[in-house]
Amino acid sequence: MLPSFVDCPAGNEKGSFIALDLGGTNFRVLLVSLDDTGLAKIEKSRKFVIPISVTTGEGEALFNFIAASIRDFLFDQALASHYKSLGFTFSFPVTQSSVNSGRLLTWTKGFTATGVVGCDVVQLLTEALHRYHLDNIHITALVNDTVGTLLAKSYEIANCDVGVIFGTGTNGCYRERVSSISAVPTSSAIDGHMIVNTEWGNFNCLPMNKFDRVLDEMSKNPGKQQMEKMISGMYLGQLVRQVIIDQIHDTGLFSGEFSIFTAADLQTHDISNFQSDTSADLVIIKAWLDNLGITHSSVKERADIRQICQYVSERAAKISAAAISAVVLRMDPQLECHHTIAVDGTLYAKYPDFKQTIIKTLQALHGVASRRFSLTQSTDGSGVGAAIAAAVASQP
Ligand code: GLC
Repeated sequence: MLPSFVDCPAGNEKGSFIALDLGGTNFRVLLVSLDDTGLAKIEKSRKFVIPISVTTGEGEALFNFIAASIRDFLFDQALASHYKSLGFTFSFPVTQSSVNSGRLLTWTKGFTATGVVGCDVVQLLTEALHRYHLDNIHITALVNDTVGTLLAKSYEIANCDVGVIFGTGTNGCYRERVSSISAVPTSSAIDGHMIVNTEWGNFNCLPMNKFDRVLDEMSKNPGKQQMEKMISGMYLGQLVRQVIIDQIHDTGLFSGEFSIFTAADLQTHDISNFQSDTSADLVIIKAWLDNLGITHSSVKERADIRQICQYVSERAAKISAAAISAVVLRMDPQLECHHTIAVDGTLYAKYPDFKQTIIKTLQALHGVASRRFSLTQSTDGSGVGAAIAAAVASQP
């Protein structure tokens, strides 16, 4: 549970801001303008693909890559000489003592860049900006992607008080009374409310089955992010792979023959395609198997694969609903108020039935009171939210 040192915007923030969105292998730089009526507009944006050698290499190279991308973006937009306030969405667990500083607690989602854990990422980026002669850029806010997502939606909708990501990773944040946050020193001048990043992906108390255990042991961070490993896009394909391998050995699926089936052969976007395959012969699954050299699969075997995908993704969506429910009950145990939950991430936006299963599970958990929950997509929330954080932080 990590305090963010930022609260939801009033809706009247104004100006144009540079936003950075770093959370996976794609990194985005945006120019966002805010009018004072709750409208945020992305004026320009550019996506950069960070090579895996950079996300797993030296920290300095990672921050140089980010600074070079900002420089390229600003030159493209002829903005390089302007003074700019920058909001930085950094989608990893960071411990903050102010809105414009934060130390990385640990990497998640496969990042391992050295020399960053324990350091202030705002300082590391400021130093890299200096190396690239971008001293006119001032980092005024550092936020998690969940916080950015909540900020972006609450700029337009006042009762939005939860931000959630179902993407490569998963996490949620919510609005809390500062007096209830023990991690914020009582001497702190901050009053009222603050957004808290729960880092629920690292909730490690759920029962694990044998597939979860194998996946965890094979991961770059065994023993950590166990709920994330049951829910998010980085892992669902691998969980399905574990179950299929087990079925090959135990029940003789594909006559026990499937030796060339590697991790790269089954990603979450593949299982998402399998689940949307409604053809009688399951042609998408057949094409995938044919490609792997399994040309004699039966329709029944293909249906089994589809069923496995369904079990794994349904469990993911049900746990996701339970997480949302727990956070809302923390704020409002009797469900007396309406809560808008801003959600971003490809899994939520694209995976077949994911959203519907979350809604059905909330109904099963809360009956008619589930009407108190409304899930709303916050596309680009983590990018826009960085700009809003910069605006909130720049207010006198
Ligand atoms: C991981 C990160 C978390 C982030 C989430 C979604 O769980 O630890 O900070 O919010 O992924 O991107």
